[in-house]
Amino acid sequence: MPHFLDIHTTAKSDLRAMIDQARDMKSARAGRPKGTPDDETPLTNHMVALIFEKPSTRTRVSFDVGVRQMGGQTMVLSGSEMQLGHGETIADTARVLSRYVDMIMIRTFEESVLLELSEYASVPVINGLTNRTHPCQIMADILTFEEHRGSIAGKKVVWVGDGNNVCASFLHAAGQFGFNLTFSGPEVLDPDPEFVALAREQGAQIEIIRDPARAVAGADLIVADTWVSMHDSQSNRERRHNLLRPYQVNDALMAKAGPDALFMHCLPAHREEEVTNAVMDGPQSVVFDEAENRLHAQKAVMRYCLGL
Ligand code: CP
Ligand code: NVA
Repeated sequence: MPHFLDIHTTAKSDLRAMIDQARDMKSARAGRPKGTPDDETPLTNHMVALIFEKPSTRTRVSFDVGVRQMGGQTMVLSGSEMQLGHGETIADTARVLSRYVDMIMIRTFEESVLLELSEYASVPVINGLTNRTHPCQIMADILTFEEHRGSIAGKKVVWVGDGNNVCASFLHAAGQFGFNLTFSGPEVLDPDPEFVALAREQGAQIEIIRDPARAVAGADLIVADTWVSMHDSQSNRERRHNLLRPYQVNDALMAKAGPDALFMHCLPAHREEEVTNAVMDGPQSVVFDEAENRLHAQKAVMRYCLGL
């Protein structure tokens, strides 16, 4: 029974099969109303729990719609309203939920919560974001890149800004999908060196270039994310803004990359902070394709987890 906990802990061949299946499932239902079931409904009679300990728009709605399109049922649970948030152990919560539902998706703070849940659950567990990683997002991003530009292998991705949870999953994906990643941000916000080392061991070229204008030269894809993540203390907000202001993705920076570079952002975006309106709404931006592809990519992730 496979969980989907991270990109680097999932086999390369399974990751590739999920992306290919997501693309096929997307095209098979193109143009249909969103509430129409897929031709195949492999989740019929399956119940999926979606647990959120942090806010969410995309993850919440895309998982819910995805389960329903595949014939299953969902329950969306807020962590704070469960005993989970009031002292019951994660292990006991995992054992109990496994008696009611066939799969669990969780968005939480500490990675240890996800890992303990997956250790004690007897049903698959999916990582819907932790402070450390966001693998479902990057599955959607790979699908999106390949729809626009073909295989991502050997391409140059430039992450601009904070070396956060989404950046970590991009690093994992660089190793697994065989693309190169340049990080451009202030040194104090560098990504985890362990993740950089792992990607390099897998043969990806990982560079750290402080000057964003130099970093984006030759980029096939430029990626930004919020300067203050949900788990970051609000008291550091001003300091982070000051550190990251030179890393705003704007027209001048996109021009350094050239007209063929795509722009991605997992959203929610803080317009005119990490990215300008002109770039978000410009011709190189594929941010809403990314948002849509959360749905298609996660449907393939769920089928993988259930072996269906
Ligand atoms: N990108 C993403 O995970 O969005 P939500 O926080 O809205 O789920
Ligand atoms: N880095 C952001 C991603 C939100 C989807 C956060 O963790 O808040």
